[in-house]
Amino acid sequence: MRTIIKNGIIVNDSAAFHGDILIEDGIIQAISTHFDLPDAEYIDASGKYVLPGAVDVHTHMDLQAGAHRAVDDFYTGTVAAACGGTTSIVDHMAFGPKGCSLWHQVEEYHRLADGKAVIDYGFHGVLQHVNEQVLEEMKEISEKEGITSFKAYLTYDFKLSDQELFQVFQKAKEYGIVIPIHCENDGVVTYLRSWYRQQGHTSAKYHPLSRPSGCEAEAVSRMLHLAALAGDAPIYIVHLSTAAGLSEIRKAHALHQKCFGVETCTQYLTRTDACYEDPRQGLKFIMSPPLRKQADCDALWGGLQDGDIDVVATDHCPFNFATQKQFGAQDFTACPNGAPGVEERLPILYSEGVAKGKLSICDLVRLLCTTPSKMYGLYPQKGVIQPNADADIVILDPKGHRTLMHDSLHSAVDYTCYEGMELQGSIDLVLSHGRVIVRNNEFLGQPGDGLYLKRSHSILAQ
Ligand code: URP
Ligand code: ZN
Ligand code: ZN
Repeated sequence: MRTIIKNGIIVNDSAAFHGDILIEDGIIQAISTHFDLPDAEYIDASGKYVLPGAVDVHTHMDLQAGAHRAVDDFYTGTVAAACGGTTSIVDHMAFGPKGCSLWHQVEEYHRLADGKAVIDYGFHGVLQHVNEQVLEEMKEISEKEGITSFKAYLTYDFKLSDQELFQVFQKAKEYGIVIPIHCENDGVVTYLRSWYRQQGHTSAKYHPLSRPSGCEAEAVSRMLHLAALAGDAPIYIVHLSTAAGLSEIRKAHALHQKCFGVETCTQYLTRTDACYEDPRQGLKFIMSPPLRKQADCDALWGGLQDGDIDVVATDHCPFNFATQKQFGAQDFTACPNGAPGVEERLPILYSEGVAKGKLSICDLVRLLCTTPSKMYGLYPQKGVIQPNADADIVILDPKGHRTLMHDSLHSAVDYTCYEGMELQGSIDLVLSHGRVIVRNNEFLGQPGDGLYLKRSHSILAQ
């Protein structure tokens, strides 16, 4: 079947131009100023932006975190993603049993996602300990499964030591694998969490105080130095949240360090630690790293503008407020960490970024579509509107308007971090492989429509 998207403003990371797109067999066949074919189905995009489907490279669907399980599985979570204009995700696996092979979680995640996801999906592997077998399995899994990234945590139960990380970085360099890293100084965080608890300071507002911005900056700096020592190993800093962390990134860029990428998330751009002031509502925002000061948000917008930050993702990790988040009501350290956001990202970035003049429409595509695809081996299949790319497309009406309300969202979670936010712009249509899967906020696809993404190497590893 042929589809023609007519008269839209086609946007890539480098240019926006008027034109028509011809789609056949789920692929973009051609772009021209004018197509007129008798047997095609037409979509009128006059006055609308036509964007590549957005790519979210940081989600946690169906995550088991200690006693709690994130409430979106790969069906509800990807329906929510699709309705927010995201047509591919790369999901971060949960930790498996202590000492398990890297294959354990790869198999588990295929069980969780295959036949359920409604948009294309890939996985990041997860590192829990390091030995010869693990290092060998990284290579094997990247070759057989197209899982070309393995995440390391510097805090939580399975944090890696510098000694382990350095070995991982050396092998990552050799094998062309990228290492996404959660950067927080575990010693300080662990001490402060227990100190605040002992003082009886257990409400939500102590969560950010127990994870100060210097913990992120120290860990970011240490990882950049270790990666440089390992010969500019390919690393990727996930969910950067602070001006202090960003200044470490800027130092590394000034020193011409190569092969690292940097991500922030919607919430670190648009929400502040004022959200923790109300002890009850504050539980909704318990995530790590925590929300920061307005000055940090402003600095992160600056990082997006000047190219020091490469990607905006979500860290979508939803726990229900009415039940799961209440575990933190008497003690913030018992609250499951994480918050929803996979559906809100593109609409918020358009409204807060493009409509308010902080970003151009091409910047939006660079940060949400093109660079995430390049960072994780999906480009040029994803992240661009050009011949031979998958026909994953979002049609956005810049004149549309919306008030974000939980009731109009599609995640299984019971709240949004952005209730009542007024948004400029609205998503009219979302296409995945040339099929309309969302029309005016209604999901039209099927479980299992999403394809598993065997990824190639990151641009950081070439
Ligand atoms: O609080 C968060 N972010 N939970 C999800 C796991 C992680 O650290 O990315
Ligand atoms: Zn993290
Ligand atoms: Zn995460």
